Amino acid sequence: MKPAQGHVFVAGSANLDFVVRAAHVPAPGETVLGRGLELHPGGKGANQALACARAGGAATHMLLALGEDAFAATLETSLRDAGVQLHIVRAQGAATGTAFICVSDDAENAITVAPGANDALAPHHLPPLGEATHLLLQLETPLASVEAYARAARDAGVRVVLNAAPARALPASLLALVDLLIVNEGELAMLAGTDDIAGGLERIGVDDVVVTLGARGCIARSGGVMHVQPAFRVQAMDTTAAGDTFCGALVARLGAGDALSDALRYAAAASALACTRAGAQSSVPTREEVVAMLSGSNDQDSNDHDALAAHCGLAASSC
Ligand code: RIB
Repeated sequence: MKPAQGHVFVAGSANLDFVVRAAHVPAPGETVLGRGLELHPGGKGANQALACARAGGAATHMLLALGEDAFAATLETSLRDAGVQLHIVRAQGAATGTAFICVSDDAENAITVAPGANDALAPHHLPPLGEATHLLLQLETPLASVEAYARAARDAGVRVVLNAAPARALPASLLALVDLLIVNEGELAMLAGTDDIAGGLERIGVDDVVVTLGARGCIARSGGVMHVQPAFRVQAMDTTAAGDTFCGALVARLGAGDALSDALRYAAAASALACTRAGAQSSVPTREEVVAMLSGSNDQDSNDHDALAAHCGLAASSC
């Protein structure tokens, strides 16, 4: 196991987000009239790397692929300004990844990604992981590369964290390389083949799993022990990248040596703050803001804890 003073390495996607706010997200076949168009740096990988550095306070490296266009510079600047050390693959002839996002007035979103240069990330692009404690991966880049990177990390004694988003079926060979899996309810259902959260945890085939549950909070199972972390209550205006903020902050704090329960609480606070701001990377709070929220908040209402446990099919006394 690597020392807690190392860095976090993120390998994944970077997208420029084209965001329109509307009264509601369009249903299939529907057109809605939105308001102004905004452009924000995004992409699950880049959002998580930035959250790791900015919200989590971790030394952070990222492997990403960018196209040969003006969008690339926007993404590069956002990550570098947050202190992320970049390992960039320049994808010749490809466009930088883009995402088309509709955010509704009740803070929900619908996202379509055009991967572009993200598809150029190949197995041989991962540099030596050096003193990395954790490798954080997502699923917006080719699956063969995700698995190759996970295998390289496993061989180097670096802990592999996979945020299995966006949801897709995964080979058992990849899941076998994962030390910590982070999924939302839909992703858990797809991977485990059941809507039942407690049952899904039993069937998923990874020992250590965090399930994020939006405004309810999150649960985790690690070493056979269940943890329940209710969400911090905020007035949400845009939930884009709230999950990414959670993942980056969580891994940053685990890399710093925090216990899982402390890291979950920290990540829950960071994620709640991200919901109060517009955009993806623009919504990620600083470490100081997260610490201020934690020090100003009482422990979450025990009703929230019990309701969350019940939602997950767990006895409140068991976690
Ligand atoms: O998780 C939010 C992100 O998903 C957006 O920034 C968008 O780029 C897509 O990758």
